Amino acid sequence: MLATMKLACSNTDGPALVIGATGYIGRFVADACLDSGRTTYVLIRPGSVCPARAAAVHALRAKGAIVVEGSVSDKELLERKLREEGIEVVISVLGGSQILDQLNLLDSIKAVGTIKRFLPSEFGHDIDKANPVEPGLTFYEEKRKVRRAIEAVGIPYTYICCNSIAGWPYHDNTHPSEVTPPLDRFHIYGDGNVKAFFVAGSDIGKFTVKAAYDFRTLNKTVHFRPTRNLLSLNEMAALWESKIGRTLPRVTLAEEDLLVMAEENCIPVSIVAALTHDIFINGCQINFSIDGCKDVEVTSLYPDISFRTIDECFDDHAADLVLKKGNMITSPNSMVNRMPVAPTCA
Ligand SMILES: NC(=O)c1ccc[n+]([C@@H]2O[C@H](COP(=O)([O-])OP(=O)(O)OC[C@H]3O[C@@H](n4cnc5c(N)ncnc54)[C@H](OP(=O)(O)O)[C@@H]3O)[C@@H](O)[C@H]2O)c1
Repeated sequence: MLATMKLACSNTDGPALVIGATGYIGRFVADACLDSGRTTYVLIRPGSVCPARAAAVHALRAKGAIVVEGSVSDKELLERKLREEGIEVVISVLGGSQILDQLNLLDSIKAVGTIKRFLPSEFGHDIDKANPVEPGLTFYEEKRKVRRAIEAVGIPYTYICCNSIAGWPYHDNTHPSEVTPPLDRFHIYGDGNVKAFFVAGSDIGKFTVKAAYDFRTLNKTVHFRPTRNLLSLNEMAALWESKIGRTLPRVTLAEEDLLVMAEENCIPVSIVAALTHDIFINGCQINFSIDGCKDVEVTSLYPDISFRTIDECFDDHAADLVLKKGNMITSPNSMVNRMPVAPTCA
């Protein structure tokens, strides 16, 4: 089997399968894969569930995605499709509660033996380096289990550590890129001076796909560290204030406050609180250097391709705000478009 896997390590420009293409991060990845001109299959669970999801599937089809109906738990289907369609790159963008379902997927990839690159659902921090408090740690342990299984079988892989998605980093599982930054007050974690990398969703997609097809990232961890996207919360707050033309009060959420939220063990909110603590108190995105032979920094791979800045992302939010105000969708002191969160407590 290892010999077969070695053969599969050659360069590729072949078809990709994106699993989780209707998800928050997955939509960026699937879009980027289609934009790159590669034949893009998307595994979609049957049924329309809700209008937003139906619209997402429709948009993927309209852009040229080839929909494969099924679940990641269906090994037989996966194996057959990987073989029949000659898929060479598999990108999993499954959500937090489906991380271990990827072990099924590994069985299918192993059985087929022709997949040239597998990207498991990572899209955050380097889970072998960071050690968040619980329940973040259990979440990371599941992702670590997937990494170790990939390495044990010898599947050619790339791990994407894209750090934070651009937007105001709410600590309660609100999707940052989809909502306007605060309009009433900022929650500042700790002293607000610890820096983090904020990467636009479209760039997460774009550079993930580039890395998936790049021989230089074979069996490597790709870290997204564009220097212009490295900001502290205090800098983010000042930048957003410059866009809305007024200052907002700061409310400090101390380390202890985040730890209490994490300890409540409400999933997924407590996982986000634990990771927020790791980013803005522990500095988990910046407290290590990228010097291992297994690590590569994305801007060193593609020095001529720029990343969207937070300034540009905040400009979009400000423009959106003006548009919504014009349509009387929001009031100036309210939070707008916040995603509902339905936590479950263990
Ligand atoms: N860096 C960051 O700021 C950041 C932020 C968020 C997430 N992440 C990471 O990104 C990754 C993706 O998370 P997400 O929040 O984008 O996930 P998500 O929004 O929950 O999306 C999950 C996707 O998986 C699909 N799916 C679920 N079960 C499936 C099954 N059995 N078979 C096939 N497809 C299935 C869902 O399809 P349906 O439409 O059928 O539900 C959906 O498309 C995770 O590793 C997460 O930790 C990173």
